[in-house]
Amino acid sequence: MSFIKKEFEKYKEVIPNGVCSSQRHNDPRIFVKAKGAYIWDSEGKQYTDYHAAFAPMLLGHNDNDVNDAIMEGIRQNYSLFGSGASPWEEGFARLIVESVPGVDKALLVNTGSEATYFAIRVARSATKRDKIIIMQGGYNGWHNDVAFNLQDPWEKVSSYKKGEPMELFPFSSGIPSNQKENTAVVQYNDLEAVENLMKTGEIAGIICEPILQNIGIVKPEEGYLQGLRDLCDKYESVLIFDEVKTGFRYSIGGYQSICNVVPDLSTFGKAVANGYPLGVIGGKEEFMKYFSHSDKSKQVLVAGTFNGHFIGSIAGITTLTKLRDQGDEIYGHLDKLGSQMEAGLESIWSAKAVPFNTVRQGSVFTTYFMENAPKRWNDIAKNHDTDLDLAYRKKLVNAGLYFVPMPAKQCSISFAHTKKDIDNSLEIIERVVKEL
Ligand SMILES: Cc1ncc(COP(=O)(O)O)c(C=O)c1O
Repeated sequence: MSFIKKEFEKYKEVIPNGVCSSQRHNDPRIFVKAKGAYIWDSEGKQYTDYHAAFAPMLLGHNDNDVNDAIMEGIRQNYSLFGSGASPWEEGFARLIVESVPGVDKALLVNTGSEATYFAIRVARSATKRDKIIIMQGGYNGWHNDVAFNLQDPWEKVSSYKKGEPMELFPFSSGIPSNQKENTAVVQYNDLEAVENLMKTGEIAGIICEPILQNIGIVKPEEGYLQGLRDLCDKYESVLIFDEVKTGFRYSIGGYQSICNVVPDLSTFGKAVANGYPLGVIGGKEEFMKYFSHSDKSKQVLVAGTFNGHFIGSIAGITTLTKLRDQGDEIYGHLDKLGSQMEAGLESIWSAKAVPFNTVRQGSVFTTYFMENAPKRWNDIAKNHDTDLDLAYRKKLVNAGLYFVPMPAKQCSISFAHTKKDIDNSLEIIERVVKEL
């Protein structure tokens, strides 16, 4: 048994599965250090990181500016005061309000799941309805409202008909069976299914990643996001863009500033604090007012001992300030490297007799082993060669490139990556693909 496997067995004695997130139970490896574009495992092996810890590392691991700002906070004896407000909450909220079109006010929590939880609570309070719509293949966190229908196999989802909602498949045990009364699932890019649900008058809101980024990269068809906006307006439901993954990857204004569709509420996390815990709920005054509604019966509770903690808030302030002040340089560099990677992958995989499709948005990319770019999860479930994808990823990891060994997951390039990193990575990928 290898050193790492033996170590991992010890972890399992004290932690279920040996690791504190089910999502990280995917690779028998123990990581101990990270800097810039690289991560190291407990045997000292270095990897060029394309996983970015499920996406937060936009500037790269342990960005000096972010770390220095946190250390300075510690030196200043900042703390969790547990009463009253702190300047860093206001500082962060002001930055995000100034940057994102759909955000008049913002609240700071600690994770993306908390942010989506509270956004849904506001949608219910504002509409006095209970049911929310989520997307097959979308991920909005671990809580009961949204823990349905992610990467279900083709046998389960093949009965899908355009215009109709999907059967609900929880991805956790322990969700109350009556939760199904309050959640509905549709396929992405199927506006008809959304309208058919809305016509019932039961829908409080839709929560949607504007690009589905938990099943690789599935982009909205022309007019889809505007269509969701129009339907929410028509049926007086709340549109929530879950920008936990899209937020700040492509623009300081979020993806909403690129697609020009303004949601009622937005949620952010991950890249907003470049790897430190921070979740954000932001939105229009009309909806954010529910957190401080003058009518107590309409007031939505937002609570959390660690909400607005200085470490996440200062990490967020420093990250957003960098994105604001050096945006052209940062997003220009990210896009250039993304495009270099895409061109390299196209050329490498073209030499192989398998169908493939590399989908990219800025610095994020996924290669699907299927003919056409997917429009929804069902396209992937039916056509993507997951065995090939997994074998490819595992070989890349062994060769020193960390592509998370889970099929159809996105890869992310950070600002710390260089052209040379991509050149070297493409050389390795070419070798691995030839051997596959
Ligand atoms: C789009 C999206 N929303 C919400 C979440 C939940 O965020 P967290 O894991 O910080 O709770 C995630 C996490 O992967 C996500 O990708």
